[in-house]
Amino acid sequence: MAVTLVIASAVGAARAAAPADLVALRTGAHNVLLGRCVPCHRGSADGAKNKALAVFDLDRAEWSQTVSDERLPILMDRLQSTGTPAERAQVQQFIDAELAYRVIARGQSR
Ligand code: HEC
Repeated sequence: MAVTLVIASAVGAARAAAPADLVALRTGAHNVLLGRCVPCHRGSADGAKNKALAVFDLDRAEWSQTVSDERLPILMDRLQSTGTPAERAQVQQFIDAELAYRVIARGQSR
């Protein structure tokens, strides 16, 4: 359902701007990861790790843009041992919507 809405709104959206539904899902995932993936993935944190920041840095507004399509599903692997079922569902929704949006955004840029 959420994915359908994202696709529908993405078609009409300017190429550079992510649709509002996706922005909300991205923010939700960001909040989950801030609770679970620091200090390593947060540039300003003591104990941040350069290799982890290269994958994503939660201090960046566009934190998810450095995560490749192939790596997005790995977020779920890393959440298996630490997240709650609700947190995992939230991040999975974001991943599905983000991947769907990227396909559309690429189509528009051709
Ligand atoms: C203790 C430090 C630490 C924590 C906590 C941590 N990571 Fe990482 N993460 C790393 C490091 C270092 C790398 C780069 C090296 C590697 O791939 O293991 C990495 C890499 C990754 C990658 C890319 C893996 C690949 O195979 O390409 C993903 C995705 C990722 N982390 C997600 C997460 C998520 C999601 C969380 C929180 C649930 C998390 N990490 C928590 C240190 C951490």
